[in-house]
Amino acid sequence: MANKLLNTAKTAKKDEFYTQLSDIENELRHYRPHFKGKTVLCNCDDPRVSNFFKYFALNFEILGLKRLIATCYKNNEPDLFSMNTCEQAVYIIYEGDKNGNKVPDPSEMEVLPLKGDGDFRSEECIELLKQADIVCTNPPFSLFREYVAQLIKYDKKFIIIGHQNALKYKEVFPLIQENKMWLGYGFAGGAAHFISNYEDVATAGDHKSGMIRVSGVVWYTNLEIQKRHEELILYKKFNPSDYPKYDNFDAINVDKTTDIPCDYDGVMGVPITFMYKYCPEQFEIVGVFNHGCDNKYDLAKPILNGKELYTRIAIRKKQ
Ligand SMILES: C[S@@+](CC[C@H](N)C(=O)[O-])C[C@H]1O[C@@H](n2cnc3c(N)ncnc32)[C@H](O)[C@@H]1O
Repeated sequence: MANKLLNTAKTAKKDEFYTQLSDIENELRHYRPHFKGKTVLCNCDDPRVSNFFKYFALNFEILGLKRLIATCYKNNEPDLFSMNTCEQAVYIIYEGDKNGNKVPDPSEMEVLPLKGDGDFRSEECIELLKQADIVCTNPPFSLFREYVAQLIKYDKKFIIIGHQNALKYKEVFPLIQENKMWLGYGFAGGAAHFISNYEDVATAGDHKSGMIRVSGVVWYTNLEIQKRHEELILYKKFNPSDYPKYDNFDAINVDKTTDIPCDYDGVMGVPITFMYKYCPEQFEIVGVFNHGCDNKYDLAKPILNGKELYTRIAIRKKQ
């Protein structure tokens, strides 16, 4: 259902959903030391509504930031809080508390017009990107490939939200494989509620008013975090009946990350959610068993006893 929702968002470019402050706080508390003396850019963030902007403005002094910049995209769609359209794309600069009241207030912020619509790919937004040390936002899912490619091109540090299925994109997978990008701490249960008025497909128990529930959302980052170096404790032993080989590739299938055998040295196909637990000192990422099979990193389709499985990440234990 959630995938259907995301696919719909992709095709219809339904990108107007907003991240909750609590979700931002939950993730960013793990990155605190990275922010000292840094310029942060939120480049898909209307400061009137963005909780990313709010988080960094409120925590400016605690994090020891140097500068906060946010750019607002003028897409002629009303924002979901005020229902106002953004009449003029602007960027906002905040450099901390100036009037001593310890609360960020609009009089301390410089609001400057952009010539264009604030598209993150525009020349003027790229100029702002060049000034930034760390980019942090939830970018439009429909432009995720381009968004990541631009961050890499300009060699930026980042913490951004995306869908776990983006892992297997040909523009993203090599970054994961080469340890240039990894997953952050993530959302409870691998799903998040975003502020939006799009139709919610969540079951009644999971529905929250004024929100959509999206499963499979993750944080992508290239900032060092402790979790990334915590090795998985493996206790299962290999045997050919519990770990059959694929019909079309010399690799065993492992249905659950916790079931990875401790004594198998060959290639193993593990679910995409393994990436939450991936520790580069423990495992090597060999490729993808992608059921879509549309990029050069795909090793094969994951076919087991004649049946095609969902995407698997191909890994091998490091010696
Ligand atoms: C998923 S929403 C997240 C908004 C905000 N970053 C947050 O997390 O609450 C993505 C935002 O990107 C904006 N957007 C869409 N296309 C864009 C573009 N080409 N350049 C910059 N922003 C864009 C949308 O208007 C939308 O507000």
